[in-house]
Amino acid sequence: MVRAMLVLGIETSCDETAAAVVEDAPAADKRIRSTLVLSQLAEHRPYGGVVPEIAARAHLEHLDSLIARALDAAGVSLGDLAGVAATGGPGLIGGVMVGVMEAKAIAYARGLPFVAVNHLEGHALSARLTDDVAFPYLLLLVSGGHCQLLAVEGVGTYRRLGTTIDDAAGECFDKGAKLLGLGYPGGPAIEQAARSGHVARFPLPRPLLGRPGCDFSFSGLKTALAETVRRQGSLDDRARADLAASLQAAIVDCLLDRTAHAAAAFTARHGRGHALVAAGGVAANAMLRPRLSKLASDWNLRFVVPPPALCTDNAAMIAWAGVERLKLGLTDTLDFAPRPRWPLDPAAASARSR
Ligand code: KG4
Ligand code: ZN
Repeated sequence: MVRAMLVLGIETSCDETAAAVVEDAPAADKRIRSTLVLSQLAEHRPYGGVVPEIAARAHLEHLDSLIARALDAAGVSLGDLAGVAATGGPGLIGGVMVGVMEAKAIAYARGLPFVAVNHLEGHALSARLTDDVAFPYLLLLVSGGHCQLLAVEGVGTYRRLGTTIDDAAGECFDKGAKLLGLGYPGGPAIEQAARSGHVARFPLPRPLLGRPGCDFSFSGLKTALAETVRRQGSLDDRARADLAASLQAAIVDCLLDRTAHAAAAFTARHGRGHALVAAGGVAANAMLRPRLSKLASDWNLRFVVPPPALCTDNAAMIAWAGVERLKLGLTDTLDFAPRPRWPLDPAAASARSR
């Protein structure tokens, strides 16, 4: 009998400590054997954002027991694993080091292969874990730290079509929520407040809308919101809801416009009939999903977005990227050094910095 490939995944690059066991099973709904996420929200909330030092300490404190619980929930022991995968970057370096050291220690002690996973690749491949999406596909990767459009052509082969020239979309949600006194993390708070808000009351700009290319910009939107808040003086709940609705609508309009440009570029090169995938925390947004779905059908692309819990940071996506890499023999040595920066498309990243 062929043994199932079971991989332990570890995610510690930001403010979630996560561990998961994923299996290379033929049916997508059987792949995740366990997935646990320990959020550090309570620790960071008083500061209105993630404090790297607090995050690293919390990962260190909880990771051992979380891994034990993930193995237990999956009904497996370390001896059953085919490999250990951990986020190797990009992210807050203290946290990444905690996860990488733990994975290396397990791999060394058990004689298992170790895979250092690019966190962004984890997000990028998550749709293959849930929906068996074939390469190539167009990816909108929208999280707290990243906002990119990529052609995903294979494991490790990413062509960046566009990126943000300033803030990420999630960052805009988070900073906007802070300005409105809606707390952290901003995305879910803005989405909630926007439900009872009216978009027409406070018009906000849509940076780069209609301009050529696939790059994003959100800092002008954030500044416009700050200015509107300042002019209002104090905010009541009505104004808060209306501003949240305006901000969400503006961010979603920008994301849609740039994704439409990317869909044109992608289909010109690869033809129609592929998939448009959304990933990253902002892809959990309930207003964004139906709009992207409509855009995809306009371009004859299949729209795939993982369930919200697999859009925000989790370890199942890291374990799955580990599965994909292990199957291709792409393992890392134990002298892998955690990478605070790690672009998916190094050529595009260095072209921009020149
Ligand atoms: O992927 P993720 O969990 O962490 C990063 O790698 O950054 O994304 C977190 C980001 C935060 O900025 C958060 O505000 C945003 O995703 N987010 C949302 C929603 N849920 C999370 N943004 C908009 N709507 C949501 N429902
Ligand atoms: Zn992420």
